[in-house]
Amino acid sequence: MTTQERPVPPRVAAAQRAAAEAGFRKSCTPEVGRLLALAAAAKPGGVVAESGTGSGVGTAWLHSGLAADARLVTVERDPELARRAAALFTDDPRVQILTGDWRLLEQHAPFDVFFCDGGGKRDAPDLVIDLLSPGGLLVLDDFTPSPDWPPRFEGAVDDLRLHYLTHPSLDATEVLTTPDSSALVAARRPSGRGSAALSS
Ligand SMILES: C[S@@+](CC[C@H](N)C(=O)[O-])C[C@H]1O[C@@H](n2cnc3c(N)ncnc32)[C@H](O)[C@@H]1O
Repeated sequence: MTTQERPVPPRVAAAQRAAAEAGFRKSCTPEVGRLLALAAAAKPGGVVAESGTGSGVGTAWLHSGLAADARLVTVERDPELARRAAALFTDDPRVQILTGDWRLLEQHAPFDVFFCDGGGKRDAPDLVIDLLSPGGLLVLDDFTPSPDWPPRFEGAVDDLRLHYLTHPSLDATEVLTTPDSSALVAARRPSGRGSAALSS
C-alpha cells in the first residue's frame, strides 16, 4: 500500500513550484505551515506578518488561514524571490509583499501573528517581541529538539532559544513539528502580566 501525503492548499503548491523553479530550498515544511495557518486563523481582523518571504510558501500557509478582515505583510530582501512571491498574490489586496530589510515591517506593527523567519530572530530578538500586540502570536521554526533544560544545540546551551522561552513578556513553548525539528510558539502577555506572574 502506498502512503499519501495530506494535500496542501493550491496557493501553497504554487509557491512550492516557484521555490523549485528558483532553486530555493529554505521554504517552511508543511508541518510548520499548518501551524502558521492555525495562528493566522486565530486572529480575525489581525495584522499577520512574516520576515523572510522566500518564494512565498510560508506566506501562502499564513494566507490559507487569513480571515476576510485580516491583512498579511511580508518582507524579503532578495528582489527576485520577492517578485516570484508577489506574483502569487496579485489577486488579493489583503497581502502586501515588501522588498528590502526585515525592519521595513516595523511601520506595519503591532502584529497579531509574526512568523519571524528571515531577519530579527537572531539579530534583534527583543525588537521582535516588541513588535507583537498584546496576545500576539510569535512563531519561530528550524530548531532541533532538545531533551535538556536549559535547551542545548550541538552540546552548548542554546541561548537564543532560552531567551525566547523564558522572556518575561512571553508565554512560550517548543513544539515538535517533525521527530527531528521543532518550532517555538509564543504569545505576548498583556501588559501587567510580566515577570511577576512567573512566580505565581
Ligand atoms: C528560511 S527562508 C524563508 C522561508 C519562508 N518564510 C517560507 O516559510 O517559505 C529565509 C529568507 O529570509 C530572507 N532574509 C534573510 N535575512 C533577511 C533580512 N534581514 N531582511 C529580509 N529578508 C531576509 C532570505 O533571503 C530568505 O529568503
